[in-house]
Amino acid sequence: MLYILKKIKFKDILDIEEMKIPKGKITCIVGESGSGKTTLLRMLNDLTSSDSGEILYDGKPIKNMDSVSLRRNAVMLPQTPAIFSGTVRENLLIGLKFSQKPMVSDEELLKAMELVKLTKSLEDDADLLSGGEKQRLAIARVMVMDPEVLLLDEPSSALDEETERIVINSIVEYTRKNKKTMVMVTHSKKIALEFADEIIEIKKKNLTIPERSLK
Ligand SMILES: Nc1ncnc2c1ncn2[C@@H]1O[C@H](COP(=O)(O)OP(=O)(O)OP(=O)(O)O)[C@@H](O)[C@H]1O
Ligand SMILES: [Mg+2]
Repeated sequence: MLYILKKIKFKDILDIEEMKIPKGKITCIVGESGSGKTTLLRMLNDLTSSDSGEILYDGKPIKNMDSVSLRRNAVMLPQTPAIFSGTVRENLLIGLKFSQKPMVSDEELLKAMELVKLTKSLEDDADLLSGGEKQRLAIARVMVMDPEVLLLDEPSSALDEETERIVINSIVEYTRKNKKTMVMVTHSKKIALEFADEIIEIKKKNLTIPERSLK
C-alpha cells in the first residue's frame, strides 16, 4: 500500500476509520461537493493536517517525513491551478523550478503537451489560453515533473466530455506504463468507473439542516 489512513478526523468534515490507497494503481475519489475530497487530497500531500489519526506513506508516518521530499515524490495538481503570466514554456517549467529539480528540454515539454493534447506553441502567451487549455497546461506541468505519485484534483472539470475522455485516457495510460500511482478526485462517476482500479466515495457528514435555518 502506498497510503494507509487510520482514524483520521478533520473538524466535522472527515471521519475516516481506515483507508488504503494502493501503489501502482489508479484510485478515484468521488463524492458530492463539499464532502471533503480536496481536504483529503491535501492531507496526502501534507498540505493540511488532520486533527487526529495517522497517515502512513510507504509505511512511514507522514508527520515524521520531510514535506519537501514527500512533495517531490507526490505532486499535486490543485483544483484551481495557478497559471502565471508568461509563455507556455515558462508555465511548464515552473513546477521544476519551485521544487528545485533540473530543467528539461523543449522536446520533453512537447511530449507532456502531446500527452494532454495541447496543440499550442511553447512561445504562446499562457494568459491567452482557454479555460480548458489552461487546465491541460497545468496537468502537463505536473507530468513534466515526472513524479512517482500523481495527486490530481478534478483535472478535467473544465473539459468537454470527449476531450475529458481523451486526456484522462492518455494520462492513465502513461501512469500504468510507467508503473506510477494516481489518485484522482473526479466529479464524474463515469470516468471513475471507466478508469479506476479502486473507487473511494467520500460521504458528506452533517446533512441535517439546523431547524432555525428552515424558517
Ligand atoms: N481548513 C479548513 N477549515 C475548516 N473548514 C474547511 C477547511 N478546509 C475545507 N473546509 C471545509 O470543508 C468542506 C469540504 O471542503 P473540500 O474542499 O474538501 O470539499 P470537496 O469535496 O473538494 O468539494 P468540491 O467538490 O466542491 O471541490 C467545505 O465545507 C469547506 O468549507
Ligand atoms: Mg474539491
